[in-house]
Amino acid sequence: MAATAGAPRGAADEVDWERLRLRAVELMERAYAPYSRFRVGVAGLVDDGRVVAGCNVENAAYGVALCAECGMVSELHASGGGRLTAVFCVGGDGQALMPCGRCRQLLWENGGPGCLLMTPEGVLPMSAVLPQAFGAEDLRHADG
Ligand code: THU
Repeated sequence: MAATAGAPRGAADEVDWERLRLRAVELMERAYAPYSRFRVGVAGLVDDGRVVAGCNVENAAYGVALCAECGMVSELHASGGGRLTAVFCVGGDGQALMPCGRCRQLLWENGGPGCLLMTPEGVLPMSAVLPQAFGAEDLRHADG
């Protein structure tokens, strides 16, 4: 397994990353990606121990495609809510894939800066992969 980098060691070591990866691979195999042929699966650990997951779902109107993370976040809320604490996203090779910028924002909203992400360079907190993120706090700081 990839080395831990930049995350509190204790927290990262407590996560069963291989369990998350295998669940993400299962979902990747169910992806509906006939246009890009780029299959993605993702699995996330919730703070109550649940595991939620998703795959990408494309559309003939290409821009309507749903990233795998959208499905995972939908399952998070549909199955009772909670906070994501660790996330593993994989591509068609079953190895760690960096979530796109939009999906990092989704992970930030639902896991916050301390949520751990498996990256090709090891485990990193969301604060490292989405620095200076815009979030709910910023809405409260608005002047107008
Ligand atoms: N994709 C995801 O599902 N998640 C990401 O974070 C990156 C991109 C999907 C969207 C599209 O179906 C395919 O990968 C190619 O961009």
